[in-house]
Amino acid sequence: MSKLKTTFFCQNCGAQSAKWIGKCPSCNEWNTYVEEVVLKPTQSQALQSITSGRTSKPQRIDEITLSEDQRIDTNNNELNRVLGGGLVAGSIILIGGEPGIGKSTLMLQVALTIKNLKVLYISGEESGQQIRMRAERLGMTNANCFILTETSTQNIFTHIAALEPNMVVVDSIQTLNTSIIESSAGSVSQIRECAAEMNRYAKDTGVPVFLIGHITKDGSIAGPKVLEHMVDTVLQFEGDRNHGYRILRATKNRFGSTSELGIFEMQNTGLREVSNPSEILLSQRDDNLSGVAIASTIEGLRPMLIETQALVSSAAYGTPQRSATGFDLRRLGMLLAVLEKRCGFKLGAKDVFLNIAGGIKVDDPAIDLAVVTSILSSGEDIPVDPKVCFAAEVGLSGEIRPVNRIDQRITEAEKLGFEKIIISKYNQKGLVLNKGGIQIIPVNKIEEVFSKLFG
Ligand code: TYD
Ligand code: MG
Repeated sequence: MSKLKTTFFCQNCGAQSAKWIGKCPSCNEWNTYVEEVVLKPTQSQALQSITSGRTSKPQRIDEITLSEDQRIDTNNNELNRVLGGGLVAGSIILIGGEPGIGKSTLMLQVALTIKNLKVLYISGEESGQQIRMRAERLGMTNANCFILTETSTQNIFTHIAALEPNMVVVDSIQTLNTSIIESSAGSVSQIRECAAEMNRYAKDTGVPVFLIGHITKDGSIAGPKVLEHMVDTVLQFEGDRNHGYRILRATKNRFGSTSELGIFEMQNTGLREVSNPSEILLSQRDDNLSGVAIASTIEGLRPMLIETQALVSSAAYGTPQRSATGFDLRRLGMLLAVLEKRCGFKLGAKDVFLNIAGGIKVDDPAIDLAVVTSILSSGEDIPVDPKVCFAAEVGLSGEIRPVNRIDQRITEAEKLGFEKIIISKYNQKGLVLNKGGIQIIPVNKIEEVFSKLFG
């Protein structure tokens, strides 16, 4: 009998050590080392059966043939967009997200709507019946979609060899286990080895593989960081569980940009693609309320108008509260300081609450001016004209700074029926200020915005 070989693995970053250590030297986390049994990978025959006969040799780059139809249409525009224009054959994609956010729903929906491809959906979490029930709920069926409830990769590859699917979904990578490694499913070495097997399979056969991954409390994908290095694309599925909107974001993509967003709405009958995000991100309102301003932002290549809402009120207790949803709290602090110092706005003793409508998180600095305006509007209790929107960054000295792709922002605002857009003076070059549809108002200082809006 072969001697058991054990190694200690950091559960956070996947680093190895021969003995237990308290603090991981690689990621500096404490108490993350766990002993796992590993066998020397001499007996990877199971793998060999799949990967055999495929020794590759050096090839000149211009001799490597590109297949004509490189991108597979997933029949889901939002997913296609995030993937960079469709699914690449042989790619391996990791989808992470909090429990209950809708990862399984999204993948099942894709498996059921994709055309002309035989899909194998491997589930280690739910039974076939549960998946069928979900499919019923989605109101879809597809004769080309096969469900396999299995967690051992050796068995999975046997089924794959028999079925020869054109796309594979694994729900989830944490439930898989391979017999090469002795430790239990979900441990670092198991996750890593199973992902490596899936990766080899995808690369050898050209079949795209989706891996669903759980995330840890701090939001990163559970398991070793190496998992993220092994795959081609890492997608994050996020959203507020109390809001219906879900955002699919690429944090890594070998075949496309990482700045694209896919937006979905979770409905009773599954995820609906949201192709015009501005319409949902602007709350329907009839009355003029104070504390609301609209920003024309760009996420990825897509412009969208987002509503910012602020509430400024006298602090009931000693220390005033500052809270922000969907916006960086430190940036809010900075903007408040600018208002206090440059505009003589006394916010020191006020509670400030900021909310980005729709529960989405915005990184675009062009939202600054709308944030500042909504705070001013709430503080003074004067509503902002609902036909005005904003697209500019605010600098530390209260200057209004230019933002990129201003034309696109203006066009989007115009399309949605806005009459005025306030931008930075430095953005006005080459723009026709009054071309009919929308009036462009360039400003230089925050005080100017204030006087233009509230008189
Ligand atoms: P699920 O896909 O199981 O999440 P994950 O795999 O990320 O853990 O999503 C389950 C949630 O979605 C659950 O709270 C119910 C909700 N849901 C709907 O609102 N509508 C639907 O049509 C479906 C299938 C699920
Ligand atoms: Mg699930």
